[in-house]
Amino acid sequence: MTDILDADYRTGQIKIHGPEGFEGMRRAGRLAAECLDILTSHVVPGVVTQALDDLAREFILDHGALPACLGYRGYTKTTCISPNHIVCHGIPGERTLREGDIVNIDVTVIVDGWHGDTSRMWGVGPVAPRAKRLVDVTYESLERGLAAVKPGARTGDIGHAIQSYVESMRCSVVRDFCGHGLGKVFHDAPNILHFGQRGAGEVLKPGMFFTIEPMVNLGKSPVKLLSDGWTAVTRDKSLSAQCEHSVGVTETGYEVFTGSPIGEYRPAMIAA
Ligand code: MF3
Ligand code: CO
Ligand code: CO
Repeated sequence: MTDILDADYRTGQIKIHGPEGFEGMRRAGRLAAECLDILTSHVVPGVVTQALDDLAREFILDHGALPACLGYRGYTKTTCISPNHIVCHGIPGERTLREGDIVNIDVTVIVDGWHGDTSRMWGVGPVAPRAKRLVDVTYESLERGLAAVKPGARTGDIGHAIQSYVESMRCSVVRDFCGHGLGKVFHDAPNILHFGQRGAGEVLKPGMFFTIEPMVNLGKSPVKLLSDGWTAVTRDKSLSAQCEHSVGVTETGYEVFTGSPIGEYRPAMIAA
């Protein structure tokens, strides 16, 4: 269903949005962030990932919004839940989270047609120092990507900021998935690669909306897809982390639509 809508509306042209677009994205982004906020107290040892997905779906529906992933290209869940060596698109189910896991939960909500897409990382109880370090590097890489967003900059400046930092920390950037334009459409132009060269790619203009969502591995960057057709894992089974915000380009820089209203976006991890 969303597939057909995407095919209809995805033009390949980067859309420039006005004030009502910013208003719409603020509402969608805020609800997506609040959805992750309410999950935090449930990300504990022993929780079944399906229970987290149920909480997210109920929260979204209770707020008069729609879960964008449910039914998207045949996906049957509200969230993607990706622990440890799962890079992205982990499918919630019978799996139980255990102490020492690191986990990403990614949610996209639709509010009055606008898409708010965000993910963040949690540690399940205390985690190994190298796992905490990976999550810290991933979070910092998103911050560096954001700092590159301003009118006149290019998408390659974002990718370069992320890649150069991640590699300086002896981690690797996943190449197989990228950030994306969004708005009334879930996945639209432009692609936001998390690697690249300064001065390459599309010129950023006020009113563009897109996600930045770097996936960072402790080991090497190659991923493989499991037979369920969704779950992406690191080929070398190393740990992987991801952080995602939806943002808009403003006259002077950028606006994050998916910040946590209670200030909980930055992962609070306890090293064992
Ligand atoms: N939220 C993901 C993104 O950041 C997309 C998930 S699509 C799904 O773009 F179908 F796997 F849910
Ligand atoms: Co996204
Ligand atoms: Co997402």
